[in-house]
Amino acid sequence: MTGHDTPLVRCGTAADVSEVLALWRRAEASASPTESAADLLGLLARDGEALLVAAAEGEIVGSLIAGWDGWRGTFYRLAVDPAHRRRGLATALVQAGEERLLALGARRLNAIVESEEPDAMAFWAAAGYQLQAARSRFVRNVP
Ligand SMILES: CC(C)(COP(=O)(O)OP(=O)(O)OC[C@H]1O[C@@H](n2cnc3c(N)ncnc32)[C@H](O)[C@@H]1OP(=O)(O)O)[C@@H](O)C(=O)NCCC(=O)NCCS
Repeated sequence: MTGHDTPLVRCGTAADVSEVLALWRRAEASASPTESAADLLGLLARDGEALLVAAAEGEIVGSLIAGWDGWRGTFYRLAVDPAHRRRGLATALVQAGEERLLALGARRLNAIVESEEPDAMAFWAAAGYQLQAARSRFVRNVP
């Protein structure tokens, strides 16, 4: 996407980290234990193309992490600024993430989505992803 008002989807860099964290607060994305600036810088050091951002008029208004571990592609932290929703921005971010992951060899893509977030559940269903009701996610936070 290009143009003056049209958001541009690109890879995020270290210079974007504080704006991405601010976007997550604006978007009211639920907090996770791994979302400090150091965590995002660590992600970029490991994989400089894993963070995708949508920028409009110099401001970051959307984000998506598209991670590839050699086995599956996984999406995290899809968030769009409340003032920019329902304009296809999350769709554009996911399309860019899918292109990246498929080019890396992924054949199965996961999205970790909060079941209590109706916007997110509706978005991923509309994007063509199937809810896997027969699986649960077990998590352990390591101090
Ligand atoms: C979920 C979220 C990322 C969607 O972003 P968006 O840019 O508004 O999504 P899009 O415009 O690309 O929506 C594409 C389609 O998804 C569906 N959709 C998106 N938001 C929806 C909503 N709130 N209710 C119902 N359907 C929705 C619609 O089918 C929509 O197409 P339409 O607008 O033509 O009807 C955004 O609402 C958000 O940031 N929410 C808060 C954070 C969050 O829950 N993140 C997800 C974590 S996985």
